[in-house]
Amino acid sequence: MAAPGIPRAAGRVELSISPGPFTVSITRDGRSRFLPIVFLSGLPRTDVVYVAWAATPQMDTLIRLGTVRNGRTTLRPIVLEKFNFLITAERSARVREPQGRVILRGQSPSTRLFPPDLLEFSLGAARSADAIDHGEHESSGWPMVPAPPGVTMLPSEMALRPAVTPFLPATDMPLPHAESNEVLRLQDGDIVDLDAELVRRTINGQTYTMYSYNGQYPGPLIEVSRGSEIMVRFTNHLSDSTSIHWHGIRLDNAFDGVEGVSDAFTYKLKFPDAGIFWYHPHIREDIQQALGLYGNILVRQPGAKIASNQEQILMLQDLLVGDGSLIPFGLESPTHALMGRFGNVFLVNGEPGYRLSVRRGEVVRFYLTNASNTRTLNLSFPGARMKLIAADAGPFERETWVDNVVIGPAERYVVHVRFERPGEVALVNQVRGLDHLFGRFFPQVDTLGVVTVSPQRVSDDFGNTFAALHRPPPPFAALASYRRFLDKAPDKTLVLTLATHGLPYVTERLMQLDSIYFAPVEWGGTMPMMNWASTGRQVRWVLKDPESGRQNMDIDWSFRRGEPVKLRLVNERRAFHGMQHPIHLHGQRFLVLAVNGVPNTDLAWKDTVLVPAGSVVDILLDTANPGQWMLHCHIAEHLSAGMMMHFTVN
Ligand code: C2O
Ligand code: CU
Repeated sequence: MAAPGIPRAAGRVELSISPGPFTVSITRDGRSRFLPIVFLSGLPRTDVVYVAWAATPQMDTLIRLGTVRNGRTTLRPIVLEKFNFLITAERSARVREPQGRVILRGQSPSTRLFPPDLLEFSLGAARSADAIDHGEHESSGWPMVPAPPGVTMLPSEMALRPAVTPFLPATDMPLPHAESNEVLRLQDGDIVDLDAELVRRTINGQTYTMYSYNGQYPGPLIEVSRGSEIMVRFTNHLSDSTSIHWHGIRLDNAFDGVEGVSDAFTYKLKFPDAGIFWYHPHIREDIQQALGLYGNILVRQPGAKIASNQEQILMLQDLLVGDGSLIPFGLESPTHALMGRFGNVFLVNGEPGYRLSVRRGEVVRFYLTNASNTRTLNLSFPGARMKLIAADAGPFERETWVDNVVIGPAERYVVHVRFERPGEVALVNQVRGLDHLFGRFFPQVDTLGVVTVSPQRVSDDFGNTFAALHRPPPPFAALASYRRFLDKAPDKTLVLTLATHGLPYVTERLMQLDSIYFAPVEWGGTMPMMNWASTGRQVRWVLKDPESGRQNMDIDWSFRRGEPVKLRLVNERRAFHGMQHPIHLHGQRFLVLAVNGVPNTDLAWKDTVLVPAGSVVDILLDTANPGQWMLHCHIAEHLSAGMMMHFTVN
């Protein structure tokens, strides 16, 4: 069973037939499964049985989904990327294949993906003048970007290069080698120093010049108790301006860290919420965060009992590595402005190949943070049982069994995993890639780490506690009262879309071809050249307030402190190239009330929510913290390409 909370966050209506007597809404979860919910009315005959079926586009495999009647029926999930949907009128409920008349048929939008015809091919096969303009490669200083496996590219795509100057940090000075991070356990009133500085890091045998906090990867893990206050004396030793944003912490507005710091600044932090938070720069995140500037903050609830044998705090990132060097960043403007920079090396706490040894029966509490520029992860431990406990800023109303966790950039989840069998259990990222050019889905599985389970049993066995699903103690149990906002009309709506200009001709044409279908979540960088070559000069990601017509930084909503605000996020289906957006609000917390109109049955406080392409997500904002704050997409390249705005809480 998939978790109700998580996969639904990646859901979206894939097929919807209405009006008329029929409404079929098929929502997709985070693992390529479609959850059909059928609403029917006016079915005329009572002497027949109506049966729903799913079939492959070739109709060579037919799956019986169940019987349907007037009213609402939820059918079994469809595990096909592309499918036809049928309802037939049958004499018996027990038919194994359709025999009666087809009364309704539909196709998932993904069936409309076709390989290009010869004309499109010839367009791509020839190098257009455009591509050559952008492609003064040999002299441009851009190395070739590696292509993900399984993706087809045309010669004219291969010739594309970003029209900005390549940038990587460099120095003649000898640099220290970075070390793995330390834990800073801080008391109320403590003062700590944090320095941004250049380091050398060796990853898979290659040494790179990167950034660090205090010479560590990730930055130091700051551990504090809820309710405490600390000071961070920050010094910037980099040649560029930077800042530290304390992601998810409802701190004083003046210390939010969106303002650039060229040499030093002291941040005063207070921690009103228990949870797993993180810190990162708020200037050119596409460069600075990717090069290693990120760390976690674990805020503990004093006196809380944790039913696990050990805790593992994992910061996940993907780094884009070329032949012997990192792929440079855009100096004047980010590269990868369309989809964000997908990396090809998975890092867990700054290193590839995470390892953990446990004893048989151990329960491990994992705190997962996605610090990637753009990659949404779908993590699992195949063979081990996993329980979802908490989101960004607090526990779920009740724990649920899950077999995967979908984590958009900047999101966090806490899971408990029990390792019951001796041997090895992998931590994998398992997704469906989409070859846009050929309209073909393919599986992608990456192993991020391995847990070795020894045959000796753990002495302190949390098995019994683990086996039951719990509800958190107060104050967290009190979320149900917010459900009264479910039926309320949204106070504000925000449309997520994009505008492009001056993209190379081949990119324009291929994207038009592509826009026939969007995967709700673009899991991998499967348009690598076109994406790479697009810069913030050609792509503008847009937050649009339909009420005022204003966009991005021209928006500054004003809210009254203490009055919850219902905000509807609409990821426009008609956009030229839709994509999921992890939307983050500074200084506040919110609940995800509903996704595509389906009420969320397991609430938790969050500060970042993934809005899949074509989806509508309703959130309820707890406007408790006064100040002028940012709302933005956490895909670093989308943020740099305009996708940010303000709101003020008075
Ligand atoms: Cu984690 Cu404004 O960001
Ligand atoms: Cu975005």
